[in-house]
Amino acid sequence: MAKILVTGAAGFIGSHTTDHLLAEGHVVVGVDNFRSGHRENLVGALRSSSFSLHEMDVAQPGTVAELVGRERPDAILHLAALVSVQESVANPELNYSLNLHATHLVAEAARRHGVRRVVFASSAAVYGDAAALPIRENSAMRPVSPYGAAKLASENLLLGHAAAYGFTVRCQRFFNVFGPRQDPASPYSGVVSIFARRYREGLPVTIYGDGRQTRDFIAVADVARSNALAATRPGLASGAVNICTGRATSLLELAGHFARHYGSVPAPRHAPARTGDVIHSLGDPAAAATQLGFAARTTVAEGLAGLFSEVPAAVSP
Ligand code: UD1
Repeated sequence: MAKILVTGAAGFIGSHTTDHLLAEGHVVVGVDNFRSGHRENLVGALRSSSFSLHEMDVAQPGTVAELVGRERPDAILHLAALVSVQESVANPELNYSLNLHATHLVAEAARRHGVRRVVFASSAAVYGDAAALPIRENSAMRPVSPYGAAKLASENLLLGHAAAYGFTVRCQRFFNVFGPRQDPASPYSGVVSIFARRYREGLPVTIYGDGRQTRDFIAVADVARSNALAATRPGLASGAVNICTGRATSLLELAGHFARHYGSVPAPRHAPARTGDVIHSLGDPAAAATQLGFAARTTVAEGLAGLFSEVPAAVSP
């Protein structure tokens, strides 16, 4: 069993990954500053004697390095991030602090304390608007937002460090992750969480653009499993893989799933497409299957059914 340090442990993906690692018998050292994570996401984990939680900001120099020196983890899963493409467009400086500078601090902590493996929460946003679909790992990388640019720069920074100092880096290029605990509170939240709240409340959703843009939506339980594989599977070389399903869903189709479940809700409103938004995003999952032994198991319909069963469908008649 391994000891894994998880940054962003109280976040959406971080808390599911923490739960998954603990269920597999690993020891997890969690780090979060609760900027976008929530302590309630860790109620299960906090009951485990194999879990500890440290409130700190990974973007502050010295913090992670000190903890890594004390805990000596086998691997670091660096999931702490600014997660919104739109927020990166609105606040590029914060984006570079959280999505690039913090990566540098994590890479340095790994180097100084001899951590053997770093797993990084990268993104499909590194590709930008792909010329051909599905997107493979060797497709051209032309980010169209500060978010995508910082994720790509972070990948390169980590790969350079790994090669120079002899550790392994695994870059997980997440496509559009959805599921329980995704926080709908901000206008920058993921589309599924926003739609879930709006439909539940009987309110119309807003679709930016014509709704024909597509995303490869992947359930968070699958993503958590892929992270555990990247952190613990023996013998992995450094590299980057898509974490995706290989299936595309348009925004109109997504809204259709909700409309069928919730019945009579006002039709979606349309607003202009957002700056930095890619049009089509669909990944090829083959490399993750070969390198990690990972394949997504949950379809969008199944994942949404899980979300619907968590909350009452009842909207007043
Ligand atoms: C998402 C993730 C990002 C990840 C990337 C990988 C979030 C907040 N962002 O970015 O972390 O790296 O996938 O592909 O989870 N939309 C609407 N109406 C809404 C909200 C959104 O139409 O109310 C549209 C957007 O314009 C976009 C699509 O839905 O076309 C998805 O948007 P969003 O959920 O913000 O995710 P991405 O920008 O794809």
